[in-house]
Amino acid sequence: MRLLVTGGCGFIGSAFLRKALASTEVERLVNLDALTYSGRRENVAELESDRRFRQVEGDIADAAIVERLFEEEQLTAVVNFAAESHVDRSLFAARRFVRTNIDGALCLLEGARGHQERTGREVRFVHISTDEIYGDLEGGDDVFREDTPVAPRNPYSATKAGGDLLALAFGRTHGVPVIVTRSSNNYGPRQYPEKLIPLMITNALQDQPLPVYGDGRNVRDWLWMDDNCDGIWAALERGEPGEVYNLGGASERENIDVIRGILSALNKPETLIQYVDDRPGHDRRYAIDFSKAQRELGFSPKTKFEDGLAKTVAWYQEHESWWRPLRDASFQDYYRKHYGKLGLQT
Ligand code: NAD
Ligand code: DAU
Repeated sequence: MRLLVTGGCGFIGSAFLRKALASTEVERLVNLDALTYSGRRENVAELESDRRFRQVEGDIADAAIVERLFEEEQLTAVVNFAAESHVDRSLFAARRFVRTNIDGALCLLEGARGHQERTGREVRFVHISTDEIYGDLEGGDDVFREDTPVAPRNPYSATKAGGDLLALAFGRTHGVPVIVTRSSNNYGPRQYPEKLIPLMITNALQDQPLPVYGDGRNVRDWLWMDDNCDGIWAALERGEPGEVYNLGGASERENIDVIRGILSALNKPETLIQYVDDRPGHDRRYAIDFSKAQRELGFSPKTKFEDGLAKTVAWYQEHESWWRPLRDASFQDYYRKHYGKLGLQT
């Protein structure tokens, strides 16, 4: 396999690169990453000595770079992780979400299509989507299935829905063997400290307030990032072109319980919890039926949430040199503006 991974300097992409390089099936592994605020070169540092690996700094929406990589590397497969991935940021600046999550996905799909047409060889294309494109579950026993109508409710998920549907359309209209995965909330080491779990851990480690949106009772399903990568790898190897696979963690938790678990692991007081205004358009509950991936890909989430959370907390405790520089002046500036809107009292 001659594989192009995009967004591999980010949280899930870097875990996937480590998995891919461990496979003898991979003859060449190219990582195309624009190194935005959430892309960290240090996340792939340990891979750079492997001669099969090539790191390329560039934008997935840049057609010239994408075409050149197909040509130079004679790629046979693509896994597209690259995205603007944070819902809160999309509430304040949606334009770059459109560029990366829609234009960027389109550019990669065009690249794969063009290469197929020039060489007559198929390019297997796994597009990483999200359960957020299904919208919201108000409660009860309802779950997202692959045939649940797509109904995104915030700019991030709307742009992810655009990329997802374009990918499926390219499968149907241009014969690119596209497979889409839609996973629930990932957690684990190296997640940028703006997302719920690493934000709460790094705030608590510094005795700063933990901002809980609304009543804290929104529900997310948590999936250990390596379990997600196992599912994505299985989709790359065995997924049926044109199909969508939900990947979930079977670990639904209310946000407030996740936060209490973090405080307890760190032996910090619950007085750090601070309720703030709700996120606009905040989805209440996500829950995912991943039985199709279990049946067809042999996927199963192996990591128990409490074990994964303990490992994650320990990782951030031991890797302050990784996260401390990320909470720099621009991060603080973003938070000042953001909390201004969401009403955190500091
Ligand atoms: P992340 O923000 O940690 O990483 C995103 C990576 O993409 C970064 O390395 C960044 O530099 C790169 N990137 C951004 N724009 C780019 C561009 N235009 N060209 C090239 N590279 C670019 O995100 P993540 O949490 O690792 O998420 C990875 C993928 O998984 C995304 O597609 C996201 O939508 C999806 N996803 C994430 C979760 C989750 O809980 N984190 C859940 C479901 C799906
Ligand atoms: O479901 C998959 C999605 O999960 C991915 O597609 C996204 O890329 C990923 O960011 C994640 O989206 P969420 O909005 O669910 O994740 P986030 O970590 O931003 O928030 C999780 C929950 O915690 C959500 O209900 C909002 C709440 N929250 C979040 C932050 C950052 C807080 O209460 N306080 C906070 O400060």
